[in-house]
Amino acid sequence: MKTILVTGGAGFIGSNFIIYLLEKYKDLNVINLDKLTYAGNMENLKNAENNQQYAFVQADICNKEDVSALFVRYSIDTVINFAAESHVDRSISDPEIFVRTNILGTINLLNIAKNAWQIEEDQFQDGVKFLQVSTDEVYGSLGETGFFTEKTPINPHSPYSSSKASADLLVSAYYDTYKLPVNITRCSNNYGPYQFPEKLIPLMINNVLAHKELPVYGDGKQVRDWLYVEDHCKAIDLVAQKGVPGAVYNIGGHNEHTNIAIVELIIGYIKNRVDAEVGEHLIKHVTDRKGHDKRYGIDPKKIKDELGWYPETAFDVGIQKTIDWYLENKEWLQHVTSGAYQSYYSEMYGKK
Ligand code: NAD
Ligand code: DAU
Repeated sequence: MKTILVTGGAGFIGSNFIIYLLEKYKDLNVINLDKLTYAGNMENLKNAENNQQYAFVQADICNKEDVSALFVRYSIDTVINFAAESHVDRSISDPEIFVRTNILGTINLLNIAKNAWQIEEDQFQDGVKFLQVSTDEVYGSLGETGFFTEKTPINPHSPYSSSKASADLLVSAYYDTYKLPVNITRCSNNYGPYQFPEKLIPLMINNVLAHKELPVYGDGKQVRDWLYVEDHCKAIDLVAQKGVPGAVYNIGGHNEHTNIAIVELIIGYIKNRVDAEVGEHLIKHVTDRKGHDKRYGIDPKKIKDELGWYPETAFDVGIQKTIDWYLENKEWLQHVTSGAYQSYYSEMYGKK
């Protein structure tokens, strides 16, 4: 029976991934290690709580004792590292925690996994894998044409993407130096249930519902390549099982939209179905993000050709499911936007 250590499993993608795994497989154990920062929420895992295959441990990926203890207690054979500080704007105002968690946390996990799994020099137990969940932001920004491939040089701009790129280099180094079986996945922007409302889509949904201003950075013509979170989860599962050791896989569904188009779409959906009062008058163009990347676009050819992955959720279906989820889970939204969220919001948007 396989035992997977998922780190950061109380966050947006990690919690969707755990639910996906537990629904799909009845023959594996999932250990979720999460520090429960502002972005981690036990409510995301209600559907896993009573599952015998699942265990939760509150700990920091930077903590040597706590992570080592898990490898002693459980026969972990796969590590999937989602744990990270993930929000670009926060990395601009407070970069140091990004270095700590995203870089030092990753090397701590790498070291402990390597020591637990190594049989002798260059040799590891059968079937072990360290999968680093990374991001297309490590490639920097595109012009109007072209896509990121796995061969695109790393050229990050924000403290967030620089910390993720540094972690990727360490993960590759553990393959090159020790032959630790690793993979790195680099996905485009995710959307779906349980995304914390500091990110574009849930922030705009939350604000439209509350008739609050919709803060669009600059002209809103920046482009992001959106993927429904479940399609990302499927890709990670595939790479964990079948990815060639040492390989990087880009994940994305050729689904590019400008930010302003996303905001207009959300307004339109809510106006037509829920609240005729809302409209584009709520849009407010605010000071642009520093060093704002203009466009991301993934070429997913490698994961399609080698592993047979393809995105299953069309954007019009996925975005409706997502908005409906937030409409049906107003209590979740209320819980995560009370307390610390309020001070983050006024600090971040009060001065824009
Ligand atoms: P998130 O911010 O929603 O969740 C991060 C989780 O990590 C939270 O549960 C938090 O409590 C936990 N965490 C933070 N610091 C920790 C620490 N030191 N020790 C243990 N746990 C800690 O993030 P997300 O959007 O779900 O992203 C997950 C991963 O996927 C990240 O590594 C991110 O870089 C990557 N990624 C995200 C996207 C996206 O669109 N959201 C796209 C591509 C890649
Ligand atoms: O590309 C993958 C990355 O996508 C992940 O690695 C990151 O963890 C994730 O946060 C996301 O980064 P972005 O910076 O692209 O996502 P965000 O939702 O913060 O912003 C999306 C776009 O919307 C970006 O161009 C900035 C813009 N934006 C965002 C917010 C929060 C606004 O115009 N207004 C806003 O209030």
